[in-house]
Amino acid sequence: MTERTLILIKPDGVARGLTGEILRRAEAKGYRITRLTQVEARAEQLAAHYAEHEGKPFYQPLVDFMSSGPLVAAVLEGDRVIEGFRSLAGATEPTTAAPGTIRGDLGRDWGEKVQKNLVHGSDSPESAAREISIWFD
Ligand code: CMP
Repeated sequence: MTERTLILIKPDGVARGLTGEILRRAEAKGYRITRLTQVEARAEQLAAHYAEHEGKPFYQPLVDFMSSGPLVAAVLEGDRVIEGFRSLAGATEPTTAAPGTIRGDLGRDWGEKVQKNLVHGSDSPESAAREISIWFD
């Protein structure tokens, strides 16, 4: 079934010049980029996007990190793209994410409180709808 997902290239990915490489992997897999923008995240967008993590020890470092520079938001479309992009992204922790994945090939730990793991991808159709409305009008 055709789905849409919201992906974010986090500030570490943009700053390291990996935007093209990450989008290339999504396109090479066969997904269509239907929306694409670079933004400086507003505080209320991050509060909404990460509402489920509020109160966790990494919440404030995460919000600070996501505010530290521009990020790229995109909507990808394709059959089972939600699961498919998360598979491309790899596990949350970049040090141990499987080689072949975005995080496994391009990410690592940097000795900081937050995992700078390059990308975000929605985890369900409900999250995708909610997150697309946060980042796109
Ligand atoms: P993501 O899955 O996109 O959304 C939550 C983010 O919080 C996650 O990516 C990481 O960047 C960060 N994160 C999740 N778990 C931890 C953790 N245990 N320690 C530090 N950062 C984390």
